[in-house]
Amino acid sequence: MADQAEELKRMMKEKNDSDMIRRMGHNKTRIIVVTSGKGGVGKTNIATNMGIAYAKMGKKVIVIDADLGLANVNVMMNMLPQYNLYHVMRKQKKLSEIILETDYGIKLIAGASGFSKIANMTDDERDSFISELYTLSSADIIIIDTSAGVSHNVIGFVAAADEVVIVTTSEPTAITDAYGMIKIIATEIDNVDLSLKMIVNRVSSALEGKRVADRMRQIAAQFLNLKVEYLGFIYNDPQVPQAVLKQKPFLVYAPRSKASSCLKHIVARLEKTEIRPDGGLPGFIRKLLGK
Ligand SMILES: Nc1ncnc2c1ncn2[C@@H]1O[C@H](COP(=O)(O)OP(=O)(O)OP(=O)(O)O)[C@@H](O)[C@H]1O
Ligand SMILES: [Mg+2]
Repeated sequence: MADQAEELKRMMKEKNDSDMIRRMGHNKTRIIVVTSGKGGVGKTNIATNMGIAYAKMGKKVIVIDADLGLANVNVMMNMLPQYNLYHVMRKQKKLSEIILETDYGIKLIAGASGFSKIANMTDDERDSFISELYTLSSADIIIIDTSAGVSHNVIGFVAAADEVVIVTTSEPTAITDAYGMIKIIATEIDNVDLSLKMIVNRVSSALEGKRVADRMRQIAAQFLNLKVEYLGFIYNDPQVPQAVLKQKPFLVYAPRSKASSCLKHIVARLEKTEIRPDGGLPGFIRKLLGK
């Protein structure tokens, strides 16, 4: 009996959550997760500058720093967030209280390793977190910068997103790890609508980028039956580490650099790709919280 009551309670609760999600209706917020197999390939630089490029196009952009590593999005913009998503999950802060305005026209949310603790949230925390996340629907684009490799945290975001951008360099280890990541996505994630995209960073020629992408596309198609779209390449450019050193996004520090020009091309290309009509924030939240 007690079990039945519990089950009923759980079902009611799930219904409430999905009602809440349905009430949101269609939302056109585009959610882009930036990830990689190997670390240090340029995710954070790409996520941050991609956000800035979108903001320059007049879009409302939020960058979520889901990586708690050292070279974070906040470091790249010289910011020191005091609170993060974990405080929101624990109902200690409202999302509006932890969103930071930056000098670059984008907003920043510091993530939390606690994101992997979603499963341990109480019902009350979960409800509150869902409604907090919905306040992000005013954004046009949400870019999530993840840590490298296959952790629960990363897989959770990847599984929930409509678009996943995999960053690699042309180093053999980076390519192998990128493929490993794609394989995990293909085998472990039940999200048929996921659109996989690839950027090849730190190349010395356009051809080098294309070769890496072509190989990846081919093996993903052949062995995993998965389509990977090539978004473009970014030159290895000394302006990038210099910008990092100055704690400024390279698009701002060196707007006419090769890296900036490549990044703008990539964003223009991304803008041209179709987004699924039923994607956006409601689907993302539903998948992230396992509803
Ligand atoms: N196009 C580029 N040209 C030259 N250097 C680059 C380029 N892209 C990134 N870098 C350098 O590579 C380093 C790592 O970049 P970044 O922090 O963006 O990688 P990441 O993938 O986010 O790393 P992590 O896995 O640790 O989070 C930085 O110091 C940056 O200066
Ligand atoms: Mg990073």
